Amino acid sequence: MNNDLLKEATEFICTFYKEVNKTAQEQENRLYEITQQIQNHGFYEHTLEELEYGAKVAWRNSNRCIGRLFWNHLNVIDQRHLHTEEEIRDALFEHMEYATNSGRIRPTITIFPQATPNKKIRIWNHQLVRYAGYKTEQGVIGDPGSIAFTEICLNLGWEPKYGKFDVLPLVIQVNNHTPHLFEIPKHLILEVPIRHPQYEWFEDLQLKWYAVPMISDMCLEIGGITYTAAPFNGWYMGTEIGARNLADEFQYNLLPQIGSLMGLDIKSNITLWKDRALLELNTAVLHSFKEDGVSIVDHHTAAQQFKLFEEKEMENGRSVTGDWTWLIPPLAPAATHIFHNHYHNEIVKPNYFYQLKPYE
Ligand code: ARG
Repeated sequence: MNNDLLKEATEFICTFYKEVNKTAQEQENRLYEITQQIQNHGFYEHTLEELEYGAKVAWRNSNRCIGRLFWNHLNVIDQRHLHTEEEIRDALFEHMEYATNSGRIRPTITIFPQATPNKKIRIWNHQLVRYAGYKTEQGVIGDPGSIAFTEICLNLGWEPKYGKFDVLPLVIQVNNHTPHLFEIPKHLILEVPIRHPQYEWFEDLQLKWYAVPMISDMCLEIGGITYTAAPFNGWYMGTEIGARNLADEFQYNLLPQIGSLMGLDIKSNITLWKDRALLELNTAVLHSFKEDGVSIVDHHTAAQQFKLFEEKEMENGRSVTGDWTWLIPPLAPAATHIFHNHYHNEIVKPNYFYQLKPYE
């Protein structure tokens, strides 16, 4: 008998049944059922209700996420009956279409079969849509953060295109089979060309970013059960793109170019050229997404929403855990209330966790 699993399951069921006001009798019956299942098979299966609630609460418990106000509006797609790589690919395509929703992004999670001793599904991509990074003699082309994964794809037979924004293929692994590689159809990938509301030269940089961040390499843990393939998405906060992906020196590193084009002296720190370039890049990101009707949130609004989340949780008698170092936005952090608060970075389950990369 797996007592650790039973303990985790019991904890989860008790919190869930209490939170949604189920009776003690219902709880007792369910715990009996679960005990039987664990005894007979070594694991148990969640009901659809438990799965939905578990995925939502896992978001609510995500200490690094500033967007948690909307935890209860997560759309949960149950795909636990799928097994083959092709079935999983099609479900991922459906996720993309449903979540993207022509720009009115829907927070969504698709949940594939849980891991058991003889079954494990992994999506090797970090996000369903991500740009390739190539190491060449003339330096890196594309997203430097994707170099290792891009090499894996090339070894699996993917053809390099050597562009700055090549969308990587899906890499899906079932059990210990060789992973299968699938190209994503163009019409499923919404992208936003980045332009600036005042600087006309900005579009000459030919920058763009994809609309929907769909994290696909984390696992979802509910009541002792682990879903190793459970890709989920919200919408972007502008700074993720404008202050990190396009700005970090170890990512697209565009601040020097933007600073120069703005006519700033990028040799002198005291001109604050980095700050000015950051500000205009972030203005451009928010402006472009808004103009194209693609959901995005600025960091001031996101912080206000997080404040509301904190208040709502308090009203419901729950304490908010958080990771301050991640919650503060990378632009104007001290202009948000988060900067001036303390958060306990305690890990509460259900939650989403990093898992070892299946390659490397
Ligand atoms: N920071 C990641 C990126 O830039 C995305 C993480 C999830 N973000 C979100 N808004 N749900 O791609």
